[in-house]
Amino acid sequence: MSDRIISAKPQAEDSVIEATLRPSRIEEFVGQDKVKENLRIAVLAAKQRGETLDHTLFYGPPGLGKTTLAHIIAHEMGGNLRISSGPAIERPGDLAAIVTNLREGDVLFIDECHRLPRPAEELMYPVMEDFSLDIMIGKGPGARSVRLAVPHFTLIGATTRYAMLSSPLRDRFGSVYRLDFYDAGALATIIRRNASILRVDIDLEGAQEIAGRSRGTPRVANRLLRRVRDYAQVMGDGVITVEVARDALSSLAVDELGLDELDHKVLRTIVEKFDGGPVGLDTIAASIAEEPDTIMDVYEPFLMQLGFLQRTPRGRIATRRAYEHLDLPYSESSSLQTTLWDAPQQ
Ligand SMILES: Nc1ncnc2c1ncn2[C@@H]1O[C@H](COP(=O)(O)OP(=O)(O)OP(=O)(O)O)[C@@H](O)[C@H]1O
Ligand SMILES: [Mg+2]
Repeated sequence: MSDRIISAKPQAEDSVIEATLRPSRIEEFVGQDKVKENLRIAVLAAKQRGETLDHTLFYGPPGLGKTTLAHIIAHEMGGNLRISSGPAIERPGDLAAIVTNLREGDVLFIDECHRLPRPAEELMYPVMEDFSLDIMIGKGPGARSVRLAVPHFTLIGATTRYAMLSSPLRDRFGSVYRLDFYDAGALATIIRRNASILRVDIDLEGAQEIAGRSRGTPRVANRLLRRVRDYAQVMGDGVITVEVARDALSSLAVDELGLDELDHKVLRTIVEKFDGGPVGLDTIAASIAEEPDTIMDVYEPFLMQLGFLQRTPRGRIATRRAYEHLDLPYSESSSLQTTLWDAPQQ
């Protein structure tokens, strides 16, 4: 289901355009005001002291700007950005090769850092703490460990799964920032800025209409903007007005909250097949033929943000609001009571 238009996960067509639209200065980064302010101060302070920025961790759902912030930090600090990811670093040697090739002041971005294999992660601890790399020379009884100095650099870690990070790794980041879904105002600003880069004519209401259906996610906003632009060009005079945006998005089956058929399917499955829940993630995944991880990373955060879905120890529950959105009758005997009934006795 990688071609879902409202998926927050990156798709093949996104990569080129994202590079064009990616802000490179902190002031151009819209929204996330608290994160931005703290970063601005940290960057300024490090620059004034002539030091590198503390290792920084960003976490939150996909498409909210973690990679973008890594680019911005490298740019603001005047270092090169080196990009890698947890799964790409298979052996400790891979990591050793990366860090020994860094230059003073570089920024190393490790995406999906919760997927760093444990031996590589452990090698990283002294690197992060005091920029020393412990490598083993030789094998067997004659083996000895040698400590190498690596250049001072900033590690930026990103993860969609904060809970899966080990605490020793977590503790070695000097700052940790959580990215939240964007409000519609911030998304409308992003859409208008990007429309002007892409030379698309859009009015305020048109931008707001797209913003409202972008699931709080800039990546989705950018993608919807491109699709609506196509629609405006072929079906109208190229200008994105509220009517054009509305028609385009309903022809793409994105509802007024930004939910598509698959979100509806997740909710309907819980409601119709499992009486509103609680139902386990794997069971939902099997009944809609989707990966449990995808449901957890991509669908659920936004459905929970809307208050349509609850995660409980016994499984997922569809809330009254979900029933209302789907236009299904809600009875008191559904989800809520089941939960109480199933709650462990104290
Ligand atoms: N605050 C923002 N202002 C403007 N554009 C943004 C902002 N945040 C993200 N974007 C846009 O959204 C796109 C996706 O952002 P980015 O790649 O940084 O997300 P991510 O959090 O790294 O996602 P993933 O978890 O999938 O790696 C970028 O191309 C960028 O143009
Ligand atoms: Mg990213």
